[in-house]
Amino acid sequence: MSENARIDIQGKSIEAPLLIGSENEVGIDIAKLRSSTGAITFDPGFVNTGSCQSAITFLDGEKGILRYRGYPIEQLAGESNFMEVSYLIINGELPTETQLTAFEKDITYHTMLHEDLKHIYNAFPKNAHPMAILSCIVNALSTFYPDVGTEDEEALRLAVSRLLGKITTIAAWAYQKSIGHPMVYPKNNLDYCENLLHMMFSVPAADYEVPDVFAKALNVLFILHADHEQNCSTSTVRLVGSSKANLFSSISAGIAALSGPLHGGANQAVLEMLQEIHADGGDVQKFVKKAKDKNSGFRLMGFGHRVYKNFDPRAQIIKSYCDEVLELVGVEDPLLDIAKQLEESALKDDYFVEKKLYPNVDFYSGIIYKALGFPVPMFTPLFAIGRLPGWISHWIEMNNGPAKIGRPRQIYTGPNERPFVPITKRG
Ligand code: CMC
Repeated sequence: MSENARIDIQGKSIEAPLLIGSENEVGIDIAKLRSSTGAITFDPGFVNTGSCQSAITFLDGEKGILRYRGYPIEQLAGESNFMEVSYLIINGELPTETQLTAFEKDITYHTMLHEDLKHIYNAFPKNAHPMAILSCIVNALSTFYPDVGTEDEEALRLAVSRLLGKITTIAAWAYQKSIGHPMVYPKNNLDYCENLLHMMFSVPAADYEVPDVFAKALNVLFILHADHEQNCSTSTVRLVGSSKANLFSSISAGIAALSGPLHGGANQAVLEMLQEIHADGGDVQKFVKKAKDKNSGFRLMGFGHRVYKNFDPRAQIIKSYCDEVLELVGVEDPLLDIAKQLEESALKDDYFVEKKLYPNVDFYSGIIYKALGFPVPMFTPLFAIGRLPGWISHWIEMNNGPAKIGRPRQIYTGPNERPFVPITKRG
């Protein structure tokens, strides 16, 4: 294979080197394109644009492959836990027992929030969406811990522990605030997922024992969400971080990007859609038809993916896990039947087949979250907690690499130069 791609533009040409990834993905390095030819590439939505080289996650959308640091998602979801996977994603290798114990301890001992942060919570309206609160409070951490760069390894390790530790408390407190309950403090004798459940669902007036099956289910869901290479929120974290913005501020921007219904917000939108279908009598065909009608402005939420054009391996794991969790939790949810019927109808429909639209990670996750007792607006914050190790790892990789400040170009389509007209002479 040639090591260069030749690009000819209006009589000028360059030899652009090819970059070959470890799974033989091919990229054309067009760094010299503009300086040599005056032209830029045009790729709205970055459908064909590689923004970086990364050693964290590999995914093959045609084959439905997802691996973190080389390890298949199926094995990690089946045999690991979220803390171990977080360590792997951030540090590049699976931890020894000693390393994992130290990592978990560090995180556990940074779950408490500065008491002054409570004032900020008090300023939010009662019905504030927890994703907005999460993004805001994570950004507020940068005011308490402003010095985070990658030069000082110890400061970075501390910032990472703080983020991973505090995000569960921040999210749980957003919920407690919305229902007028006292904010529940973390407990150091609980593990990561148990602590989150404890802070979400315990009240000072009663004992709360975290059900094992709940903590196990959260572990699996968080592992499935832990990284997904250059998606919208991760690219946001990298872009914001490329200006040398603080780690907390960069992650806060990622949380904002995740909140949209085309990205992480889809898990909330899926459940609301299933509830709507249920309330409407359960006719899934009606909604499949509506999704195919471009004028309706309606899409089947939880369907389709920019990269997966065959199946989303995360969705397959969640679907098979869904029945098991509901049975263990002892919940019968008519929405699960509706989801299965909807999937079956869509997968048989020419529109969805031709456009290669399959259920994605968000299609079944909400049914599990609901069975565990999480209110619908908390679904996307749970996605954010799961995605946090990925964001952190990309921020560190970007800062340690040769990356320049992210600054796309544009094709200008506005007016050509024209003289200013004083207001009295505009007619
Ligand atoms: N329902 C109906 N039609 C759809 C859907 C859908 N869910 N998704 C895509 N299409 C159609 C779309 O109208 C377009 O048709 P046409 O070519 O005739 O204009 C075609 O399929 C391609 O869609 P696109 O929007 O150009 O594809 P994309 O790669 O830019 O977008 C997507 C991917 C995930 C944003 C999109 O499939 C979508 O909006 N899905 C619903 C929201 C959702 O479930 N998001 C979660 C994504 S997975 C988790 C995550 O990343 O956070």
